[in-house]
Amino acid sequence: MAASNPRIRPYGTAAIAEAAALIRAGGIVAVPTETVYGLAADAGDSAAVARIYAAKGRPSFNPLIVHVADIAMAEELAVFDDDARVLAAAFWPGPLTLVLPLRPGAPIASLVTAGLDTVAIRVPAHRAMQALIAAAGRPLAAPSANRSNGLSPTEGAHVVASLGEAVPLVIDDGACAAGVESTIVAGRDVLRPGPITAEDIACVLPGGGATPTPAGRITAPGQLATHYAPAKPLRLNATAASPDEWLIGFGAIAGDDTLSATGDPVEAAARLFAALHRADAAPAARIAVAPIPSAGIGAAINDRLIRAAHR
Ligand code: TXA
Ligand code: MG
Repeated sequence: MAASNPRIRPYGTAAIAEAAALIRAGGIVAVPTETVYGLAADAGDSAAVARIYAAKGRPSFNPLIVHVADIAMAEELAVFDDDARVLAAAFWPGPLTLVLPLRPGAPIASLVTAGLDTVAIRVPAHRAMQALIAAAGRPLAAPSANRSNGLSPTEGAHVVASLGEAVPLVIDDGACAAGVESTIVAGRDVLRPGPITAEDIACVLPGGGATPTPAGRITAPGQLATHYAPAKPLRLNATAASPDEWLIGFGAIAGDDTLSATGDPVEAAARLFAALHRADAAPAARIAVAPIPSAGIGAAINDRLIRAAHR
């Protein structure tokens, strides 16, 4: 039914124009990025940003990521050092968020940074988010478009299922390519593992790499242990399902569903949240997930799964 929901519009010129008008009027719009769907508002309009927090039911101490068109627009808002310039040049547009000192006087609502003197910023690679930034002519604050503590949405229908009437417009452009949220880097510390891996970062930074997040440590203010929880209990590293479990397989472990039958971690990341949504909707009382190797983007998958299991 979700596809016929009047609040969902397919990506296109008309949908972007409508969304940009809503943004400029201080409203909120759900829009896909290459990672997950975001819930966007004008980052300079504190009332608009407050609407994001209200729609998500999100604690106001949790700061938001600002999405901009390019490095020049980012430099108007944040102070870049050499490492930040190297990372931006290498990975933007793309799924990398840089936590940088907020430029004094930058037109960013303090609700976006939750009063911090740093700002999390990225240039998204998705055509819908890029088009919306261009049409609105504003930096857009956008957390994932789900109720606070819910699963991140990787399809338009997930947004409607999670936020319902709280979001007036969802631009639908199909499933997100990466499927897990952007990698967050502060200095050389990875605060949240994501599609840009610690190995990717090490390849471009002079004189060494990034520091991966120690398992379980809460580093970004929003990295609460329960952040990615499905509704049901979840068991990790399962090689077979108990009678009351829905098994999400990987590689040779087939399960009721699979993240990747061929054991491809990139495909697994893209399918992760949709698989968890399906598991939540299945009749079984519990969820089990096959082991996923932690190399590359596997680190981000296991980060999200560990949070999903600790609920
Ligand atoms: O891929 C993504 O990053 C998606 C899409 C929509 O862009 N957005 C996303 O936003 O995941 P959200 O709000 O769900 O997660 C933002 C994370 C939180 O963990 C928050 O604490 C952290 O970024 N964050 C934001 N500003 C920060 C700052 N100044 N310092 C440290 N962490 C920050
Ligand atoms: Mg989120």
